[in-house]
Amino acid sequence: MYRRILSSIINFLNSIGATTIISAEMTEAVGRDIISYLTSGEFVLRKIKRRDGKVFRTIEVLKYRGDDAYLGEHYFTITPRGIVVYPIIPVFRPKKYERELFSTGNAELDRMLGGGILKGSKVYIAGKTGVGKTSLCLQILKENDENGKLGILYTFDESKDVILRKYKDVFDYEPRKLIVREVGDVNLGEFYNMVINDLKLNPEIVAVDPLNALDEMAISTAEFLSMLSLLKRQMEALGVTFVGIYEIGQPVSEFHFTGAGMSRFADYLIVGRHVEMDGELLKAIAVVKNRFGDHERTIRILDIEKGKGLLIGEPLKEHSGLMSGIIQKISQ
Ligand SMILES: Nc1ncnc2c1ncn2[C@@H]1O[C@H](COP(=O)(O)OP(=O)(O)OP(=O)(O)O)[C@@H](O)[C@H]1O
Ligand SMILES: [Mg+2]
Repeated sequence: MYRRILSSIINFLNSIGATTIISAEMTEAVGRDIISYLTSGEFVLRKIKRRDGKVFRTIEVLKYRGDDAYLGEHYFTITPRGIVVYPIIPVFRPKKYERELFSTGNAELDRMLGGGILKGSKVYIAGKTGVGKTSLCLQILKENDENGKLGILYTFDESKDVILRKYKDVFDYEPRKLIVREVGDVNLGEFYNMVINDLKLNPEIVAVDPLNALDEMAISTAEFLSMLSLLKRQMEALGVTFVGIYEIGQPVSEFHFTGAGMSRFADYLIVGRHVEMDGELLKAIAVVKNRFGDHERTIRILDIEKGKGLLIGEPLKEHSGLMSGIIQKISQ
């Protein structure tokens, strides 16, 4: 009955050339199938709860006849100026670019990486808090900046001021072109669209510090990983190098990367950890992966000194205990 009445109303509106918008509350009684059958486009609005309890609105395109619709669920907000949708869809098509190797500006780090970083690749820097992740990222962005190229850093935990102070204090450097974006309380779709807009500025490097913030921003870890994969595809398409920082929270017993199953997204993986040596707490770094070729299989001490930048020591060859974190010189 319901279906017959609805279908005659729609047929009549069609006959007079009207565009019909039907809204229905989704209940058991009003099955989706009835609406689906009669319409050429179908959107479902939902409220979804994030892991921290915060609620977001989403719009899902279930069906859209005609054009090449991009089906799927997207975030939207209702503002005093209307509805804002943040589509999470690929925008850029792959273009051709030279996959050249560029320097991090630190000869030792270049050596550890196997010569430098390939344009358009993904570099992940992982480690516990205070191990030097942000500083390593700033080093890579600094060299890029000095070469007159644009870098964009999305920072979640530190303000722009703190980042600029770090540049001044540690590197005695003032960025020229670098864009530092403090990302506040946004939804994942909003962040994605922020990046897509920024990519139109033709940056050479885009960095996210830390990626954990995106994980927390997402409804689930699966959504976070699919966001990473989409960002990766979009940056790869344009030849933009991506630097992602990941803070390892769990105790790590090995010189090992264990974050959220994301190491497969990394082309280069730099891992840092705190080590104890002669009663002193030091930072050690290693490159554990280079997808394109060989890298050094060494562990080196990283020292961050005011005004001097990153000082990377010689490979620790005659030492044991790197896995346990308590390093001792092997006695002859
Ligand atoms: N403004 C600064 N002035 C002097 N030294 C600094 C400054 N900022 C950082 N450092 C040095 O660099 C070290 C590593 O800091 P960095 O912020 O790079 O680590 P991180 O791994 O990113 O830490 P977090 O987990 O807090 O983000 C600090 O322990 C400190 O020794
Ligand atoms: Mg940091």
